[in-house]
Amino acid sequence: MCTFADDMKKDEKYRLLTEQIKALIEGETDSVAVMANVCAAIHETMGSFWTGFYRVMGGELVLGPFQGPVACMHIPFGRGVCGSAWEQKKTLVVPDVEQFPGHIACSSLSRSEIVVPVFSQANEVIAVLDIDSKELATFDETDRQYLEGICKLIK
Ligand code: SME
Repeated sequence: MCTFADDMKKDEKYRLLTEQIKALIEGETDSVAVMANVCAAIHETMGSFWTGFYRVMGGELVLGPFQGPVACMHIPFGRGVCGSAWEQKKTLVVPDVEQFPGHIACSSLSRSEIVVPVFSQANEVIAVLDIDSKELATFDETDRQYLEGICKLIK
């Protein structure tokens, strides 16, 4: 169970993480380099099971920079949590992946996840950030708000 003190700790971690990421990617124009360091920073700070990006390429999602165990490399539009977040152009918080119709199980250890779209200036989804946890119901409104803020920093 998550207490008020845990929530404060998470909030503070995300505040510092956001500042660290701003400094890290300042002036960098290569989006793969940016995504590589963003997912490494999130993974280290939040201690996730899997943290990574899928990029929209040729009408599907293709595995991009990530931290954690090997993962599936291609995800069709509208498939799984990642493809659904892309289709719906919004963040999806999944407290129990087994309850999500069509969830793509890259690892049987993954129990909950959050997927946040990354938008271009023209408001097209160019990638999604996918974070997986080995525990149920890891992600909440705090994660959504801060991770959306972090994804807005990626150009
Ligand atoms: N869980 C994702 C697939 C990607 S892996 O978790 C890394 C999904 O259902 O979209």
